[in-house]
Amino acid sequence: MERMKRVLSLPPPPMVLLFVAFTLLLLLPEEASATKWNVGDSKFWNPNINYTEWTKGKHFYIDDWLYFVYDRNQMSVLEVNKTDYESCNTNHPLVNWTRGAGRDVVPLNVTKTYYLVSGNGFCFSGMKVAVHVEKLPPPPKASPIKSGASTLFSSTGQILLMPLVFSIGAAWDAFIHFW
Ligand SMILES: *[C@@H]1O[C@H](CO)[C@@H](O)[C@H](O)[C@H]1NC(C)=O
Ligand SMILES: *[C@@H]1O[C@H](CO)[C@@H](O)[C@H](O)[C@H]1NC(C)=O
Ligand SMILES: *[C@@H]1O[C@H](CO)[C@@H](O)[C@H](O)[C@H]1NC(C)=O
Ligand SMILES: *[C@@H]1O[C@H](CO)[C@@H](O)[C@H](O)[C@H]1NC(C)=O
Repeated sequence: MERMKRVLSLPPPPMVLLFVAFTLLLLLPEEASATKWNVGDSKFWNPNINYTEWTKGKHFYIDDWLYFVYDRNQMSVLEVNKTDYESCNTNHPLVNWTRGAGRDVVPLNVTKTYYLVSGNGFCFSGMKVAVHVEKLPPPPKASPIKSGASTLFSSTGQILLMPLVFSIGAAWDAFIHFW
Protein backbone atom coordinates (compact mmCIF):
# COMPACT_ATOMS: atom_id res chain seq x y z
CA MET A 1 0.00 0.00 0.00
CA GLU A 2 2.75 2.39 1.01
CA ARG A 3 4.85 1.51 -2.05
CA MET A 4 1.87 1.77 -4.41
CA LYS A 5 1.15 5.23 -3.13
CA ARG A 6 4.71 6.34 -3.71
CA VAL A 7 4.69 5.07 -7.30
CA LEU A 8 1.42 6.81 -8.04
CA SER A 9 2.64 10.07 -6.57
CA LEU A 10 5.78 10.15 -8.73
CA PRO A 11 6.00 13.51 -10.49
CA PRO A 12 5.27 13.59 -14.23
CA PRO A 13 8.33 13.60 -16.53
CA PRO A 14 9.91 17.06 -16.59
CA MET A 15 8.08 19.36 -18.95
CA VAL A 16 11.38 20.41 -20.45
CA LEU A 17 12.05 16.90 -21.73
CA LEU A 18 8.57 16.62 -23.16
CA PHE A 19 9.04 19.95 -24.86
CA VAL A 20 12.39 18.92 -26.32
CA ALA A 21 11.03 15.60 -27.61
CA PHE A 22 7.99 17.28 -29.11
CA THR A 23 10.04 20.06 -30.73
CA LEU A 24 12.42 17.50 -32.21
CA LEU A 25 9.56 15.46 -33.63
CA LEU A 26 8.20 18.59 -35.26
CA LEU A 27 11.52 19.94 -36.50
CA LEU A 28 13.48 16.85 -37.54
CA PRO A 29 11.65 16.20 -40.83
CA GLU A 30 11.90 19.91 -41.65
CA GLU A 31 15.59 20.03 -40.76
CA ALA A 32 16.27 16.94 -42.83
CA SER A 33 14.87 18.54 -45.98
CA ALA A 34 15.94 22.17 -45.51
CA THR A 35 18.29 24.03 -43.23
CA LYS A 36 17.98 27.70 -42.42
CA TRP A 37 21.56 28.89 -41.96
CA ASN A 38 22.07 31.84 -39.68
CA VAL A 39 25.00 33.49 -41.46
CA GLY A 40 27.86 34.08 -39.00
CA ASP A 41 26.02 32.17 -36.26
CA SER A 42 26.12 34.26 -33.06
CA LYS A 43 28.18 36.98 -34.78
CA PHE A 44 25.55 37.44 -37.48
CA TRP A 45 26.28 39.60 -40.58
CA ASN A 46 28.95 42.00 -39.40
CA PRO A 47 32.34 43.42 -40.42
CA ASN A 48 35.64 41.74 -39.54
CA ILE A 49 34.37 38.20 -39.65
CA ASN A 50 35.90 35.66 -41.98
CA TYR A 51 32.86 34.13 -43.65
CA THR A 52 35.07 31.75 -45.61
CA GLU A 53 35.91 30.26 -42.23
CA TRP A 54 32.20 30.21 -41.39
CA THR A 55 31.38 28.15 -44.51
CA LYS A 56 34.21 25.68 -43.83
CA GLY A 57 32.95 22.14 -43.26
CA LYS A 58 29.34 23.11 -44.01
CA HIS A 59 27.28 21.55 -46.76
CA PHE A 60 24.64 23.76 -48.30
CA TYR A 61 21.94 21.85 -50.11
CA ILE A 62 19.31 22.96 -52.55
CA ASP A 63 16.28 24.52 -50.84
CA ASP A 64 18.27 25.52 -47.77
CA TRP A 65 18.05 29.16 -46.76
CA LEU A 66 20.54 31.78 -45.71
CA TYR A 67 19.37 34.09 -42.97
CA PHE A 68 21.14 37.43 -42.56
CA VAL A 69 20.73 39.46 -39.37
CA TYR A 70 22.38 42.87 -39.30
CA ASP A 71 22.11 46.60 -38.67
CA ARG A 72 19.57 47.69 -41.26
CA ASN A 73 20.84 51.30 -41.17
CA GLN A 74 24.29 50.33 -42.41
CA MET A 75 24.58 46.98 -44.15
CA SER A 76 22.75 45.12 -46.87
CA VAL A 77 22.66 41.81 -48.72
CA LEU A 78 23.50 41.91 -52.42
CA GLU A 79 24.06 38.98 -54.74
CA VAL A 80 26.87 39.66 -57.21
CA ASN A 81 28.88 37.60 -59.67
CA LYS A 82 32.27 36.06 -58.96
CA THR A 83 34.27 38.94 -60.41
CA ASP A 84 32.37 41.53 -58.40
CA TYR A 85 32.59 39.37 -55.29
CA GLU A 86 36.36 39.26 -55.56
CA SER A 87 36.70 43.00 -56.18
CA CYS A 88 33.85 44.04 -53.84
CA ASN A 89 32.15 45.88 -56.68
CA THR A 90 28.50 46.48 -55.77
CA ASN A 91 27.59 48.69 -58.71
CA HIS A 92 25.66 46.02 -60.58
CA PRO A 93 24.17 43.47 -58.17
CA LEU A 94 22.46 40.45 -59.72
CA VAL A 95 19.84 40.47 -56.95
CA ASN A 96 19.24 42.92 -54.16
CA TRP A 97 18.04 40.72 -51.29
CA THR A 98 17.78 43.68 -48.91
CA ARG A 99 14.22 44.13 -47.68
CA GLY A 100 14.86 46.90 -45.17
CA ALA A 101 14.32 45.20 -41.81
CA GLY A 102 17.88 43.99 -41.32
CA ARG A 103 16.53 40.43 -41.50
CA ASP A 104 16.89 38.94 -44.95
CA VAL A 105 16.36 35.44 -46.25
CA VAL A 106 18.04 34.11 -49.37
CA PRO A 107 16.50 30.89 -50.70
CA LEU A 108 19.21 28.64 -52.12
CA ASN A 109 17.03 27.14 -54.82
CA VAL A 110 19.64 26.76 -57.57
CA THR A 111 22.71 24.49 -57.52
CA LYS A 112 25.38 27.13 -58.06
CA THR A 113 27.72 29.28 -56.02
CA TYR A 114 25.98 32.28 -54.49
CA TYR A 115 28.19 35.33 -54.01
CA LEU A 116 26.70 37.61 -51.38
CA VAL A 117 28.18 40.85 -50.15
CA SER A 118 27.16 43.91 -48.19
CA GLY A 119 26.93 47.30 -49.85
CA ASN A 120 28.16 50.60 -48.38
CA GLY A 121 31.78 49.45 -48.52
CA PHE A 122 31.35 46.77 -45.87
CA CYS A 123 32.39 44.12 -48.38
CA PHE A 124 35.91 45.49 -47.98
CA SER A 125 35.65 44.82 -44.22
CA GLY A 126 35.00 41.15 -44.89
CA MET A 127 31.22 41.16 -45.33
CA LYS A 128 31.28 38.74 -48.23
CA VAL A 129 30.34 35.11 -48.39
CA ALA A 130 30.49 32.53 -51.18
CA VAL A 131 28.11 29.63 -50.68
CA HIS A 132 28.35 26.59 -52.88
CA VAL A 133 24.96 24.89 -53.15
CA GLU A 134 24.90 21.15 -53.78
CA LYS A 135 22.22 18.75 -54.92
CA LEU A 136 20.54 16.80 -52.11
CA PRO A 137 22.56 13.66 -51.34
CA PRO A 138 20.73 10.39 -52.12
CA PRO A 139 18.83 9.12 -49.07
CA PRO A 140 20.65 6.43 -47.06
CA LYS A 141 19.77 2.90 -48.19
CA ALA A 142 18.52 1.87 -44.74
CA SER A 143 15.98 4.67 -44.61
CA PRO A 144 12.44 3.27 -44.69
CA ILE A 145 9.76 4.33 -47.13
CA LYS A 146 7.96 7.36 -45.78
CA SER A 147 4.72 6.04 -44.37
CA GLY A 148 2.95 6.31 -41.04
CA ALA A 149 4.26 4.16 -38.24
CA SER A 150 7.66 3.20 -39.68
CA THR A 151 8.61 6.84 -40.16
CA LEU A 152 7.60 7.67 -36.62
CA PHE A 153 9.54 4.72 -35.29
CA SER A 154 12.71 5.56 -37.15
CA SER A 155 12.72 9.20 -36.07
CA THR A 156 11.99 8.17 -32.49
CA GLY A 157 14.91 5.74 -32.70
CA GLN A 158 17.18 8.52 -33.90
CA ILE A 159 16.08 10.76 -31.06
CA LEU A 160 16.78 8.04 -28.50
CA LEU A 161 20.25 7.42 -29.95
CA MET A 162 21.21 11.07 -29.81
CA PRO A 163 23.03 12.18 -26.67
CA LEU A 164 20.67 14.27 -24.61
CA VAL A 165 22.91 17.33 -24.57
CA PHE A 166 23.06 17.36 -28.35
CA SER A 167 19.29 16.97 -28.57
CA ILE A 168 18.63 19.95 -26.37
CA GLY A 169 21.26 22.00 -28.18
CA ALA A 170 19.93 21.10 -31.61
CA ALA A 171 16.32 21.74 -30.67
CA TRP A 172 17.13 25.07 -29.14
CA ASP A 173 19.35 25.99 -32.09
CA ALA A 174 16.68 24.99 -34.60
CA PHE A 175 14.03 26.77 -32.60
CA ILE A 176 16.01 30.02 -32.49
CA HIS A 177 17.10 29.80 -36.06
CA PHE A 178 13.75 28.92 -37.42
CA TRP A 179 11.76 31.70 -35.81
C1 LIG B 1 39.72 33.75 -44.30
O1 LIG B 1 39.93 32.39 -44.09
C2 LIG B 1 40.37 31.71 -45.26
C3 LIG B 1 40.37 30.23 -44.98
O2 LIG B 1 40.95 29.93 -43.75
C4 LIG B 1 41.74 32.25 -45.67
O3 LIG B 1 42.19 31.58 -46.83
C5 LIG B 1 41.60 33.74 -45.95
O4 LIG B 1 42.87 34.30 -46.23
C6 LIG B 1 40.98 34.45 -44.76
N1 LIG B 1 40.67 35.82 -45.17
C7 LIG B 1 41.05 36.87 -44.48
C8 LIG B 1 40.63 38.21 -45.03
O5 LIG B 1 41.69 36.78 -43.45
C1 LIG C 1 30.38 40.15 -63.65
O1 LIG C 1 29.72 41.32 -64.07
C2 LIG C 1 30.59 42.31 -64.62
C3 LIG C 1 29.77 43.56 -64.91
O2 LIG C 1 28.55 43.26 -65.52
C4 LIG C 1 31.28 41.75 -65.86
O3 LIG C 1 32.20 42.72 -66.36
C5 LIG C 1 32.03 40.48 -65.48
O4 LIG C 1 32.60 39.90 -66.64
C6 LIG C 1 31.08 39.48 -64.82
N1 LIG C 1 31.84 38.34 -64.37
C7 LIG C 1 31.40 37.07 -64.49
C8 LIG C 1 32.29 36.01 -63.94
O5 LIG C 1 30.34 36.82 -65.04
C1 LIG D 1 18.49 47.39 -52.22
O1 LIG D 1 17.15 47.48 -51.75
C2 LIG D 1 17.02 48.31 -50.60
C3 LIG D 1 15.59 48.17 -50.09
O2 LIG D 1 14.67 48.31 -51.13
C4 LIG D 1 17.40 49.72 -50.98
O3 LIG D 1 17.27 50.57 -49.84
C5 LIG D 1 18.84 49.75 -51.48
O4 LIG D 1 19.16 51.03 -51.94
C6 LIG D 1 19.04 48.74 -52.60
N1 LIG D 1 20.45 48.66 -52.91
C7 LIG D 1 20.93 48.56 -54.15
C8 LIG D 1 22.40 48.49 -54.29
O5 LIG D 1 20.19 48.47 -55.12
C1 LIG E 1 14.41 30.84 -56.75
O1 LIG E 1 13.86 31.76 -55.85
C2 LIG E 1 13.76 33.07 -56.40
C3 LIG E 1 13.32 34.02 -55.30
O2 LIG E 1 12.25 33.50 -54.57
C4 LIG E 1 12.80 33.05 -57.58
O3 LIG E 1 12.71 34.34 -58.15
C5 LIG E 1 13.31 32.06 -58.61
O4 LIG E 1 12.38 31.93 -59.66
C6 LIG E 1 13.55 30.70 -57.99
N1 LIG E 1 14.23 29.84 -58.96
C7 LIG E 1 13.92 28.55 -59.12
C8 LIG E 1 14.73 27.80 -60.10
O5 LIG E 1 13.03 28.00 -58.47
